[in-house]
Amino acid sequence: MSMRIGILTGGGDCPGLNAVIRAVVKSLLRQCGAEVIGIEDGFGGLMGETPRVRPLDWASVSGILMQGGTILGTSNRANPLQDEATAARVLRHAQALALQGLVVIGGDGTMALAHGLAQRGLPIVGVPKTIDNDIPGCERSFGFDTAVATVTEAIERLQTTAQSHGRVMIVETMGRYAGWIALEAGLAGAADIILLPEIDFDIEAVAAVCRERERRQRYTIVCIGEGAKPVGGALTVQRRIADSPDPIRLGGVAHALAAALQPRLASEVRATVLGHVQRGGSPTPFDRVLATQFGNEAAQLVMRAEFNRMVTLHNGRLGSIPLAEVVHGSRQVPLDHPLLRTARQIGVSLGEASGDADPGVSLSRVPPPPDTNRPTPCPCQPGCAADRRDDRTPPPAA
Ligand code: F6P
Repeated sequence: MSMRIGILTGGGDCPGLNAVIRAVVKSLLRQCGAEVIGIEDGFGGLMGETPRVRPLDWASVSGILMQGGTILGTSNRANPLQDEATAARVLRHAQALALQGLVVIGGDGTMALAHGLAQRGLPIVGVPKTIDNDIPGCERSFGFDTAVATVTEAIERLQTTAQSHGRVMIVETMGRYAGWIALEAGLAGAADIILLPEIDFDIEAVAAVCRERERRQRYTIVCIGEGAKPVGGALTVQRRIADSPDPIRLGGVAHALAAALQPRLASEVRATVLGHVQRGGSPTPFDRVLATQFGNEAAQLVMRAEFNRMVTLHNGRLGSIPLAEVVHGSRQVPLDHPLLRTARQIGVSLGEASGDADPGVSLSRVPPPPDTNRPTPCPCQPGCAADRRDDRTPPPAA
C-alpha cells in the first residue's frame, strides 16, 4: 500500500503557500507515489465531526506556483489543542484517514500547535511560513521577500506625494514584534526614519529629524513596524481576538505617531497603514524558489520518516530542527545586525536619542528588545515551559 500524507496551511496566509503545496505534492508523487490529502482551513479541517479533506493529485497543483493565498484555505483561530477532546478528535480523524504523516505549513503559532499534536502521537513535518520573517531557527521565510517588495513600492509612491505637498509621511508595516519588514523595506524605499519594535523610539529625536528635513528637503518618509513603541510607551493593540491561539493584533502605531509628531512640526503629518496588502498577491521569484525548496525538503523528511521537525534555512543551507525548538519565542532583529549599522552610517535615523545614534556607541546603549515573556501558556501541552507571545499592555486610550 502506498504512503498517505496529509498537508495543511495554518495561521495567516502568505505569498508562496501554494508553491510549497505544489512542491510537496509533486515531490511525494514522483519519488514514492504517495497519496497526498489536502486538509481545508488549517487544523479546522480536522476539528469538526467529519474531516474536510480532498485528494491532491498532479493536476490539482499544476499552475498554482505563482498564485497568492492558499488553495487549501487557512485559519488563525482553529486551535486543535483548545481542549483534550478536540485534540483527540483531530488524532482520530488522522487515524481514520490513514495518514502516516502530516505536513504543516505555518508560522510560530502553528508550529507550537503542531508540536503539541506531535507530542500526542501525530507524525508531523513543519514548513515555516510568514511575511514577518520571525520564526526561530529559520533565517529567511518565504513570503517575506514579497512583503518587502510590496512595502518598498508603497514607500516609493508615498515619496512623490510627500515631496509635492511637503509632508511627513508615516508608513506602517506588519511584522508583529519583529522589525524585519520595516527595516528591509525602509532601506530599500529610502525612508529617512525607520522605527522598529526592537529599538524604542525617542519622539523628540524623530521630530528633530523631521524639522531638519523641513528646512532642507521639505518632506520626510518614516517607515514604522507595527510593533514599535516610544521609550516608556506601550504597544498599539488594534484588537483582541478571544478565540485565537494568538489573540493580540497590533496596528495603528502610525496614527499614534502622527498625532504625537504633528504639534512638534510645521509641516502636515499623514499616516498610511498598509495592512493586509502586504500578505496578498503573487510571490516574488525569490519566494517561489524558496517555497519550492522548502516543500521539496519537507517531502524528503517525510520519505526518510524524520518527523516532528521543521524545515529551516541556516547559513544559506536547507536543514531541519526539532519542532520543540521552534516554540520558544520569536526571532527579532538582533541589535548588532549589520543592517542597523548600515542604516545609521548612511544617516537613516532609527529614532534613537542623540548619542545613541553614534555608530560607535549605539549598540551598547540601545535598550533591550521588549520583554517577550507572554502570559498565554504554550498550547502544545499543559504546563509546557514555552510561553507564546502576548502583550500585557492595555491598548492606548482612543
Ligand atoms: O503574522 C503575519 C501577520 O500578517 C502579522 O504581520 C500581523 O500582525 C498579523 O499577521 C495580522 O493578523 P490578521 O490577519 O489576523 O489580522
